[in-house]
Amino acid sequence: MWVFGYGSLIWKVDFPYEEKRIGYIRGFSRRFWQGSTDHRGVPGKPGRVVTLIDDPEGCVWGVAYKLPTGREQEVKRHLDHREKGGYRVMTVAFHPRPPLAPPPSQTLLYIGSRDNPDYLGPAPLEEIANQIVCSTGPSGQNTEYLFELADAVRNILPEDNDVHLFHLETLVRQRLEDDSSPKSSS
Ligand code: SIN
Repeated sequence: MWVFGYGSLIWKVDFPYEEKRIGYIRGFSRRFWQGSTDHRGVPGKPGRVVTLIDDPEGCVWGVAYKLPTGREQEVKRHLDHREKGGYRVMTVAFHPRPPLAPPPSQTLLYIGSRDNPDYLGPAPLEEIANQIVCSTGPSGQNTEYLFELADAVRNILPEDNDVHLFHLETLVRQRLEDDSSPKSSS
């Protein structure tokens, strides 16, 4: 059993695995359109985390993990609990890097589709950035989630030129700088 991570599963690996592979899936784009009330926000004041949206031209890079043989169900239960905030599981075709690397050809994927109760959907990037700056939940600040993901994609998955992710990172860093710069008293 393989699981494909495109968000926090890339940089927060709190589960055992036997092998991992870098690669991509087609037909999706990554967006901060999923609300988080259990990790990076709270009920009534959700944070914003990533999900995938259908995009026939899209390609999302990530990391596929092979769950430990004999412990697949145990580790999947842990992941199901971690991703319980609106994500469901589907199966996708996985393309490893390099292309000739051995399988998996299919992986599981956690996706927050439009019909889940925590789904927030699109909004202007400035608005998403403001929400990320202002949100915190049991797993920490929403800004940490964004910065960890942007760093991981830049360093581990340089093929993924995710304009949405990197533009949001820039906006949020600007917001934090503006908030911390001394204000003139005149
Ligand atoms: C998640 O796994 O969906 C979120 C984990 C985190 O925010 O730390």
